[in-house]
Amino acid sequence: MFKFVIKGGKELKGKVKVSGSKNASLPILFASILSGELELANVPQLRDVDTTCKILSHMGLNVEREKKTVKVSGEVKKAEAPYELVKMMRASILALGPLVARYRRAVVSLPGGCAIGLRPVDLHLKGLEKLGARIEVKHGYVIAEAPEGLRGADITLDFPTVGGTENLMMAATLAKGKTVIRNAAKEPEIVDLARALREMGAEIEGEGTDTIEIKGKAELRGATYRVMADRIEAGTFLAAVGTAGGEVEIEDFPYESLTAVIEKFSEAGLKIERLGEKRVRVKKVGALKGTDITTAPYPGFPTDMQAQFMAAMCLAEGVSVIKETIFENRFMHALELQRLGADIKIDGNTVVVKGVEKLYGAKVTATDLRASASLVIAGLAAENTTEVYRIYHLDRGYEKMEEKLRALGAEIERVKSELNY
Ligand code: EPZ
Repeated sequence: MFKFVIKGGKELKGKVKVSGSKNASLPILFASILSGELELANVPQLRDVDTTCKILSHMGLNVEREKKTVKVSGEVKKAEAPYELVKMMRASILALGPLVARYRRAVVSLPGGCAIGLRPVDLHLKGLEKLGARIEVKHGYVIAEAPEGLRGADITLDFPTVGGTENLMMAATLAKGKTVIRNAAKEPEIVDLARALREMGAEIEGEGTDTIEIKGKAELRGATYRVMADRIEAGTFLAAVGTAGGEVEIEDFPYESLTAVIEKFSEAGLKIERLGEKRVRVKKVGALKGTDITTAPYPGFPTDMQAQFMAAMCLAEGVSVIKETIFENRFMHALELQRLGADIKIDGNTVVVKGVEKLYGAKVTATDLRASASLVIAGLAAENTTEVYRIYHLDRGYEKMEEKLRALGAEIERVKSELNY
């Protein structure tokens, strides 16, 4: 196991390029099941992508990876995602829709709970039932069957679930007739998935709005596609400058998909200047001002940026109120930020941060992916040395984070942990 050792106090300077989106790559890779042929470019090299490729290989598909390109081909021989792989990544449930749509039977382990909340998959299952699948949950596995194939349906989701919308969209591309998904998630990753599916021959309209319509096809064809840039990684670099200070140019910056985050950091006093369609300059001039956020489904402030925003607010002047409405337990990083000297009070789904003048290096433990990012960027600004344990969480979703930060002047090293984690 490894940890990061960070010597804080260095301002960030230079240029950094945003990698391809993790949360767009995963569903699009699972969509390859629908056609048995996909070449996907700009795929980030990280642990969740490794797990997805392992699941596809386990099913019998050929998966070739060359740097950032993943090629999937062949037929599924075993329509199954086992516990051993699913427990490493909840997004494995995205295999369910494509498998039952194309192969009429799927066996996928139930993902179970996770560090940030209960995260059930009931809406995925209800939606698939509406598309005609028979669903049974037995021995920790979801078994979905549709011997006659799926048929289009009108589905209204109780909540605009991102994964649920993706699973149903993929399933509906091969269902007989028309499917309408209402109260659908509008996240940019949904739009990217719809574009990739369209390249594969699917007929989809309305992605990015709350009503998505899909006309089912008898089959889809092979396609090549390039994944969008990772909006959360891009936002994390804004937060890093907001915390550590300095001036950084960010390339491949998906501006339109980050407006809520840009707005809040600008309100806090961070200077964000758009230099081109996909390029921004971010600069910190003096302390930030305490600023409130409430997380919400897209286009609201993303829950995946809440921890990093909190890290920046720890050093802001005044008070910030941070409200989390998507997950019921996504404040684990707050306790660790306190170890660095942050003044934070947690009350249910709300956190009140009173800005302090300094953070002080300490040993801290990452509890989930975005929590680990918040601890790293807080460490960049803390006096002396911060050690972040359990960075395998960070490796799930950030490509070469420490190399990118080092290139910006940060003192951060990956070293072997003396602990069991
Ligand atoms: C996606 O998770 C992302 N993961 C998450 O990113 C992100 O935090 C989340 O969307 C919200 O934006 C991927 O794209 C792989 P949801 P997902 O279904 O699809 C409840 C990261 O850090 N819900 O929109 O699992 C659920 O419990 C990760 O990169 C149900 O109740 O999110 C949660 O409270 C973490 N029943 C809320 O909806 C269901 O059937 C939102 O979940 C499904 C969801």
